[in-house]
Amino acid sequence: MSGTIRLDRLLANLGYGSRSEVQHLVRIRAVTLGGVPVEDAGMRIALAADLPSRLSVDEKPLDPLPGLALMLHKPLGVTCSHKEVGRLVYDLLPPRWRRRDPALSTVGRLDKETSGLLLLTDDGALLHRIISPKHHVAKHYTATLARPLRGDEAALFASGTLMLEGETKPLAPAVMEVLSPTSARVIVTEGRYHQVRRMFAAAGNHVDALHRERIGGLLLPADLGAGEYRQLKPADVAAIFA
Ligand code: URA
Repeated sequence: MSGTIRLDRLLANLGYGSRSEVQHLVRIRAVTLGGVPVEDAGMRIALAADLPSRLSVDEKPLDPLPGLALMLHKPLGVTCSHKEVGRLVYDLLPPRWRRRDPALSTVGRLDKETSGLLLLTDDGALLHRIISPKHHVAKHYTATLARPLRGDEAALFASGTLMLEGETKPLAPAVMEVLSPTSARVIVTEGRYHQVRRMFAAAGNHVDALHRERIGGLLLPADLGAGEYRQLKPADVAAIFA
């Protein structure tokens, strides 16, 4: 993130209100830079990484600048959507973040009944780098199954010929490791609809529980509880592609 932007535009883009609402915040001296109230809502401001620590609104540090990327421990029962009914992943974030422009979006989706590592970003280029099959970013899942494994699943998933119901292109080879008679780790590089559940359905089984533990080299941290989120550091982003 670099360059300069009008202060009122920046705050409006971060969801603090319309341009005129933000101008009002400046008039009532609620916006401070280095502890000093900003006089001119139209001042141009450099988008420096440390800006959130210098610019305050209502005595609180500014929200993260555009270019935001997060990891979220998605709990069961919440939906990866901006507008469906019921609990949405965006409800787990500060309400103001719903009004950001560019908008924060999930990087791919997890089913409502899948838990685990979910990334969100407002950086379209980053999002595409992660989901593009070209980059082969591996997604690691643990699946708990309704029935014991048959023994042929790993070969089937690795074959590169497995065709999911209703599709015309076979799945790219995927890795499966047995964890117990009724659980397995599955590593896929694609992100087809209900992919892991449908892979096990094609192998005559049923997924009772599904959890994503890792994306590329980025692991869901053990200390990030269900429903909690954390901003990605540059090293976390690098780990995704490592
Ligand atoms: N595969 C699925 O079936 N569901 C998910 O949420 C992710 C991968």
